[in-house]
Amino acid sequence: MTAVDVNGVRVLKGFLDRPAQVTLVEAVRAVVAEAPLRRPTTPWGKPMSVRMTAAGRVGWVVERGRYGYAPRCPETGRPWPAIPEPALAVWRAVADWPDDPDSMLVNWYGEGARMGMHRDADEDAWAAPVVSVSLGDPAVFRVGGLARRDATASILLESGDVAVLGGAARLAYHGVDRVRFGGSSLLPAGGRINLTFRVVAPHIGAETQA
Ligand code: SIN
Ligand code: FE2
Repeated sequence: MTAVDVNGVRVLKGFLDRPAQVTLVEAVRAVVAEAPLRRPTTPWGKPMSVRMTAAGRVGWVVERGRYGYAPRCPETGRPWPAIPEPALAVWRAVADWPDDPDSMLVNWYGEGARMGMHRDADEDAWAAPVVSVSLGDPAVFRVGGLARRDATASILLESGDVAVLGGAARLAYHGVDRVRFGGSSLLPAGGRINLTFRVVAPHIGAETQA
């Protein structure tokens, strides 16, 4: 395993071996069976190309034209499934944070899916890092700075790579330019799964989220 710094984002290349990746994919499939993937529509009315779901106390959703974290899956009306143990193990190994994450977001990239440059700023706990796990097809991941105009650099995130957005890079702009569809054999039908672990707030009661 080698660590690469991309504008302050620490990328741990090859952190997960193939058996660990297979275990995580099975865990993600169990999450998706309970909380189905959906394509959120941005507040500007445009459907995103990435399909999403979540596990944990809260999940990231777009509801009534607003981004935020909600305690229930909008698709089923039920609480989100628990974050699977093997996924928590990745966070515990790399986050350097005393608590477990409140949420694991699942991003599913099919052919042609991408994610525009954005900051992960909907959490109220920016001291904690965001930890990202890549599974399946390789993706061109772009990282900028704290301002949209800042210079960017990109890196290929491959299956098993783990990225830590922490410290000064916690609120850095980042996005996925493209996925090399079919570029990995991990997912038989192709595609890319990205998991991000987030501490959302020090205390979130089940009732406090809109
Ligand atoms: C994200 O920024 O939420 C996703 C990053 C990725 O897919 O690698
Ligand atoms: Fe993000």
